Amino acid sequence: MQHVVQAQASALQGASAASGGPMISIRGLSKSYGGHKANDNVSLDIFPNEVIALVGDNGAGKSTFIKMISGVVRPTSGSISIEGAKVEMTSPNDARANGIETLHQNLSLVDVFNVQENIFMGRELQRRVFGMVPSLDHAEMRRRTVELFKQLGLKTPDLNKAVRALSGGQRQAVGIARLLLESDLKLIIMDEPMAALGVEESRLVVELIMRLRERGYSVLIISHNLDHVFQVADRIAVMKNGRMVGAVERDKVEHDDVVSMIVCGRMLEKLVS
Ligand SMILES: Nc1ncnc2c1ncn2[C@@H]1O[C@H](COP(=O)(O)OP(=O)(O)OP(=O)(O)O)[C@@H](O)[C@H]1O
Ligand SMILES: [Mg+2]
Repeated sequence: MQHVVQAQASALQGASAASGGPMISIRGLSKSYGGHKANDNVSLDIFPNEVIALVGDNGAGKSTFIKMISGVVRPTSGSISIEGAKVEMTSPNDARANGIETLHQNLSLVDVFNVQENIFMGRELQRRVFGMVPSLDHAEMRRRTVELFKQLGLKTPDLNKAVRALSGGQRQAVGIARLLLESDLKLIIMDEPMAALGVEESRLVVELIMRLRERGYSVLIISHNLDHVFQVADRIAVMKNGRMVGAVERDKVEHDDVVSMIVCGRMLEKLVS
């Protein structure tokens, strides 16, 4: 808990900055509700192939921050650039068009549908036999579903089961597999994906996030569980009272250092250059 000094903007960038430009660059985002600043001048860079964990106490402003990046909430001020070009995020569709997908806590799955029905919902594959009226191509959707799970390095769940019969971890995997169908996907945002999961299921989600990084995606994950954070994150970004305290490399900090940043709202002296 010792040696804390004020955060510096430079600390928002990790070692990965050396390997190329950021995938997304967020500068000075603010959001006020009435007189309350839910986010106050928040900046963060996320690099390709990087997992960032966003942590902070209840009400710190984490969800507001990701809602602004995913086009759900309009910032009061600030800017977002994707691969160097400024973008306007006025809706989730804008975010999607810029390669940003958010996995919401309810996962947007239809409980009574099976795995591939959920994955292909709204973009069902069709086929025409002998020029007849097109019909759903169940075989191809099944084949592509198996392929998606293979890509994620996960065991394919029982494809005949309604997703309500799957474990929480498997449901997360279905939600992710669905996002992977987006051709230009760059950044996946997850708001507390392990919150309601048991030990084994959380492990599955940790594995899933690692696979996403291996496949070149960036991931921004909100979590209250520092053990999970230390397992998956390349960098840990800490918020307090609507402000970004700093983003630190996982390998340079201990559990207690992060707790200190969350509680004191100040960057650790040893990390400020
Ligand atoms: N739609 C809203 N209207 C008014 N105030 C809001 C709204 N959304 C968030 N806030 C306020 O902004 C602050 C930050 O909220 P936010 O949900 O971003 O925090 P959080 O870090 O995600 O918290 P938690 O860990 O509890 O999910 C809180 O004080 C919250 O009450
Ligand atoms: Mg939240």
